[in-house]
Amino acid sequence: MKIHVLNSKELVNKTVSEHLIKFVREHKTGVLGLATGSTPIGIYEALVKDHKENNTDYSQIRTINLDEYVNLDQNHPESYYSFMHRNLFNHINVKPQNIHLPNGNEKDLEMACQSYNDVLKNNQPDIQILGIGANGHIGFNEPGTSFDSSVHIIELQEQTRLDNARFFDSMDDVPKKAITMGIKNIMDAKRIILIAFGENKSEAVYQMVKGKVTENLPASILQKHNNVEIYLDESAASKLF
Ligand code: F6R
Repeated sequence: MKIHVLNSKELVNKTVSEHLIKFVREHKTGVLGLATGSTPIGIYEALVKDHKENNTDYSQIRTINLDEYVNLDQNHPESYYSFMHRNLFNHINVKPQNIHLPNGNEKDLEMACQSYNDVLKNNQPDIQILGIGANGHIGFNEPGTSFDSSVHIIELQEQTRLDNARFFDSMDDVPKKAITMGIKNIMDAKRIILIAFGENKSEAVYQMVKGKVTENLPASILQKHNNVEIYLDESAASKLF
């Protein structure tokens, strides 16, 4: 793991977005594994700005997202489909057919998992962007998820629903389940960039980097990946040193 502690969130956004832009310019047909949540928003803003100013070309880039809520209409403003279009896809020249998100509205959810595993086989991320939950989740792989997991349906923990409640009108509106890439899928990415901001991530970050590798802290598996970069602001890194 290469740990980078930078002295502001802005500097992290600038550094990570520069890596992504360089990758896109050098690998016209590359695959970007993407995350949602508050963490990557500034990075997506930087990609959009760069696309407007420098015409960085996404016309053959493929994207594959980590996760999606179950039973939340695709057009709901908080679906990850809407999030990704609002924050990134609507503003760059990625082709709709090259955008991949799991389908949480499929009647047969087992089928939805199977077909997303198939999509992943042909679209293995060259770079996977990750955030981390305060409980150490990556994607929506909550503590206790098997390290051998592939795409699956997960019951969201109360803490995760509470963390995400800020985006919904009430706690009752926060979905209870999600469809997510499994740990095994995430570990298949060639290069992983995990980003964390703020004090409330500091314990999870500490356990991910210095703790033992355990399914109780899903992100700890990243210690076993040979190409992981962790970008932190000072508060997220505060327990490390
Ligand atoms: C989102 C995802 C989650 C988030 C994590 C952190 O696609 O997979 O693992 O990265 O919950 O969320 P934020 O960035 O909102 O703190």
